[in-house]
Amino acid sequence: MTLAHRTAASVSEALRSRRSVRAFRSTPVPRDVVEDLLALAARSASNSNTQPWRVHVVTGDAKRRLAEDLWEALDAGQRHPQPGYTYQPAPENWAEPFRSRRAAFGDQLYRQCLGVEHDDAVGRDCHHRRNYEFFGAPVGMILTVSAHPLDGALVDAGQFLQGLMLAAREAGLDTCAQASFIDFHRVLRRHLVIDDDQIIVCGLSLGYADHEHPSTRWPPRASPSPRSPPSTVTAARKVRVVDSAATGEQATGEQTSAGGRPRDPALDEAIIRATRRRLVLDGYSKMTLGDIASDAGVSRPTLYRRWPGKFELVVDALDWGFRAQLDSYPTLDLASLPPREAFAEAVRRVDPCYFNPDAIVLQGGFMGEQPRAPELLDLLRERAVEPRMTLLLDLLTALQDRGHVRADLDADTLTTMCFGSFFGAFLRGDPGGAAFAERVADTVWALIAVDPTS
Ligand SMILES: Cc1cc2nc3c(=O)[nH]c(=O)nc-3n(C[C@H](O)[C@H](O)[C@H](O)COP(=O)(O)O)c2cc1C
Repeated sequence: MTLAHRTAASVSEALRSRRSVRAFRSTPVPRDVVEDLLALAARSASNSNTQPWRVHVVTGDAKRRLAEDLWEALDAGQRHPQPGYTYQPAPENWAEPFRSRRAAFGDQLYRQCLGVEHDDAVGRDCHHRRNYEFFGAPVGMILTVSAHPLDGALVDAGQFLQGLMLAAREAGLDTCAQASFIDFHRVLRRHLVIDDDQIIVCGLSLGYADHEHPSTRWPPRASPSPRSPPSTVTAARKVRVVDSAATGEQATGEQTSAGGRPRDPALDEAIIRATRRRLVLDGYSKMTLGDIASDAGVSRPTLYRRWPGKFELVVDALDWGFRAQLDSYPTLDLASLPPREAFAEAVRRVDPCYFNPDAIVLQGGFMGEQPRAPELLDLLRERAVEPRMTLLLDLLTALQDRGHVRADLDADTLTTMCFGSFFGAFLRGDPGGAAFAERVADTVWALIAVDPTS
């Protein structure tokens, strides 16, 4: 296999889709792929081009024997911190806010993903031990640097490590950097040829993620972008930087409150529409900002001045779609309609294709990206799914309160069922649309209404 088998098509995608993977499939990674990745990572910048990193790669029996010795040392409590390298202080020696962040991370990994409670020492130990077999990855690596001088070498090693992890993503592979090895440097030195002047920086697991394993059920990443308000404000802030630094243009003229220039709504809309089309045609991974700019008939700088990247553009494209759907509703006050009609209208509105006939394909594309870019599905939920569901749920709850719908019904589940029916219709080849919505509304109303004729 060569690096042509790509999963992350750009640096920003590699950055977004990289997560620490702690469970791997046994699928081997060919040696030439590993060598290609290391060669790519070795292109990282380093102080005066000193390239102080070294990588020791273990696979197969050598990896298994190393794991067995590491477990033995672990069980015997034979930890030996490396002099001068304090990457992993004892838990109580971390200062705030890092101590709290570590605790939050531990809770996320052990309790939320793995279901191991805080006081379950055996469960925690079982997971921790998996570090030393590189979480089942076919390739294990140990990264070392010269201790003379150490500080700068560590900065450079960090760059190398990041380059390696991103290159792996581009090749469809996953990684986990591991500091767990560093206190077992004596064991590592017995198995690997590591010069005395070298410090062990960390280990790294490399392979194909096992997405069935609970440790890969990462909770949404606490990143500012998916939670940020529609990006007109954030993008505008960045415009000034891009303008002056990259293009030399001055941000002159009337300033928006966020410090950018006034935007031409027609251009914005052309770009957003092109993005929505590309999401359907190419999917998130394959679509490029260049194609979007060309479809929209704008230059790339015009697009970059408005949106810093693909993800931010998709945030706005989803918001735009939902707002456009709201605008396209007939001006009906659901509360003023007879109950059966109000329900039918709300079911019509929960149809993902109400405004955009391609919406199910678009949403399917996001679902397919889930293993690589889980934040996309979070975004879809937040910006496109939940707002639609809320319309129907609110109406059902109001109809229950007013005694038109059976009070013992679980309105939330019913809402999910109505929403899901449109996906079922799509998969069965039913053309869906208003006629299908009508059939769903009829069928469901007969079951939930206190007086089905009302
Ligand atoms: C140098 C380094 C050492 C790490 N050591 C370990 C480790 O020993 N075991 C582990 O499970 N994760 C380890 N991690 C992974 C971090 O826990 C992870 O990067 C962090 O929680 C952020 O999550 P993400 O990588 O999924 O974005 C390490 C990460 C780095 C950069």
